[in-house]
Amino acid sequence: MIALNSPVKPNIKKLANLLEKVNDNGWFTNFGPMHKELTEKLEDYLGVQNLLLTNNGTSALQVAGRTIGSRSIISTPFSFVATVSAFKWQKDEVAFADIDNKSLNLSPEAVNLAYRKGCKADTLVATHVYGNPCDVDALDKLSQNNNFQIIYDAAHAFGVKVGSNSVLNYGDASTLSFHATKVFHTVEGGAIVFKDRANFEKAEEIINFGIRPGRGVVDVGINAKLNEYQAAVGLVNLEEIDNILQHREALFYQYREDLKDVVELPLWHSQANSNGAYMPILLKDEKQMRLVAEKLAAQKIQSRHYFEPSLDELFIDSHNYGSRNSVATSKRILCLPMHAHLTRENVKRVVLNVKGCV
Ligand SMILES: Cc1ncc(COP(=O)(O)O)c(C=O)c1O
Repeated sequence: MIALNSPVKPNIKKLANLLEKVNDNGWFTNFGPMHKELTEKLEDYLGVQNLLLTNNGTSALQVAGRTIGSRSIISTPFSFVATVSAFKWQKDEVAFADIDNKSLNLSPEAVNLAYRKGCKADTLVATHVYGNPCDVDALDKLSQNNNFQIIYDAAHAFGVKVGSNSVLNYGDASTLSFHATKVFHTVEGGAIVFKDRANFEKAEEIINFGIRPGRGVVDVGINAKLNEYQAAVGLVNLEEIDNILQHREALFYQYREDLKDVVELPLWHSQANSNGAYMPILLKDEKQMRLVAEKLAAQKIQSRHYFEPSLDELFIDSHNYGSRNSVATSKRILCLPMHAHLTRENVKRVVLNVKGCV
């Protein structure tokens, strides 16, 4: 079988060594030495500052929103459910604007139109879908003109740069997921990268029950800390990350080269690299998408109809400034196998089978 995804397995000897250290330290959670080391190494590797580890990518979104004080958001309908449900959970009002048909990211034109039509959202939440950066410059300009803050859901965008700058350096905050299925993982985990140090410090309290060291509880908080055992997994996986990213990127471009005349492919940001997080293709319509998925399944090749449904169809009480492109895309999108254990031969087999039915 060719699996859709397969988690990176941390080197067990290295992990055992680190876990022994955790045991010797007797410091299992609450910002211990592994947590500190992973924070510093990630900041260094990613080229960012003010990185706060969290226990998953969903809490990262919630804490980012809470920290910057979001009350109403405008967001993309084409993303994983957590992008929006994280804000629904804390009772933020939600509005949707449509995606760009080519990049599949939130369209700056659609956001602009929403504000012209009276949108009052104080925060924009945009996903770098499949690791493909949003039009960050256009969204930045809009945020200045309309006075909203930006949170980027960068769950898919580990190691992605626009030019030479990490994509995580855009917006007021960017959130990451370190779920086991992601390019880099800590089994479960995540992080927030804040533009401002003051927000980092506020969030550090929020993820620890609102406690300020030496002062007690100063804010309403939650428990969203990453523990030492999982930080150790991160440290071991980080040692392999260059090889993993290189391999995934090579597979991504192999797929794209072999499929470029066969199916439609999302338009990639012209100045960005790819981290090979996903391999999305667009079929002609839903019928063809299902046909390809069935044909692949018959050949023991997994694929995933992802994302669907368009989130405006899930959160029907939200304000909708337009979702036509998102609804249409969510019916014909299919993600092909992509992971660190996939081989070039596997990719050839998948491509051959896709070609056989379109
Ligand atoms: C775009 C996006 N946002 C948020 C999340 C949530 O991350 P986590 O599973 O770490 O809570 C995911 C997880 O797959 C995701 O794909």
